Amino acid sequence: MTPHESLLRPDRFPLSSRYDPTWLLGLDMGPHPLWQLEDLLTLVSLTPGQRVLDLGCGRGATSVFLAQQCGVEVVAFDLWIEPAEIRAVVDAAGVGDRVTVVHGDARSLPFEDGEFDAIVSIDAFEYFGTDVHFLPGLLRVLRPGGQVGMTTPALRDDPYAVHPPDAVLDLVGGEAAAWHSPGWWATHWGLTGSADGITARMQEGGRDHWLRWSRAHGSASAREIAMLESDADPDWIGFALVAATKRSRAD
Ligand SMILES: C[S@@+](CC[C@H](N)C(=O)[O-])C[C@H]1O[C@@H](n2cnc3c(N)ncnc32)[C@H](O)[C@@H]1O
Repeated sequence: MTPHESLLRPDRFPLSSRYDPTWLLGLDMGPHPLWQLEDLLTLVSLTPGQRVLDLGCGRGATSVFLAQQCGVEVVAFDLWIEPAEIRAVVDAAGVGDRVTVVHGDARSLPFEDGEFDAIVSIDAFEYFGTDVHFLPGLLRVLRPGGQVGMTTPALRDDPYAVHPPDAVLDLVGGEAAAWHSPGWWATHWGLTGSADGITARMQEGGRDHWLRWSRAHGSASAREIAMLESDADPDWIGFALVAATKRSRAD
């Protein structure tokens, strides 16, 4: 099996397997975003026609997936990637009429109160979501009872409880402080008092998924592969899946 073929797993990820790995790798900004999204959708259920914010959408692969596989209206929102680049991706995928591209900062959202039915975010919360003020600000744009779900790189043993392994610090330095455990995220969201039904867990097989992605890149990812292989335990690192519902009343 070639590294690219190892990114096709119709048994485990039937929806993601509809997408060409070469297309996805060409939009790369981190480990397999569609596998993360497909797993997140077991915690966040979307209904066709809903208005969904794809927060930190990168080059737009997840926005294409949401429009095509879930039939939702997507707002693809990102800070680092030029809107024209994202628009070209969604147009080429034939979903330009169902995806609106907006440039901006998640910490200052240019949206109305309660305008989204759901918010999803793949591999982006580590850049802005650890601030205690962030979630309440994000939930402002979600309707009461709406769902929020995110994935983010995670260490099973929280970096504030157990010093991160050298292999992690060597690769990402202080950024490892944001690679919180699922339990940390559940507490962090719970303390806001504005979210109900919080679920947080490691993605099953997350380290293996990450390794497959890195190997598909070849030698450019050698340091990342070394980090992932530095501990034989398959679950020590991966992605946290975190989801909740916006509380209907603040009190
Ligand atoms: C690791 S990339 C992941 C992109 C995409 N979700 C994916 O999985 O391919 C993180 C993304 O978060 C976005 N991001 C970082 N800080 C942000 C902020 N303050 N507001 C909005 N987006 C942000 C970046 O622009 C980047 O596209």
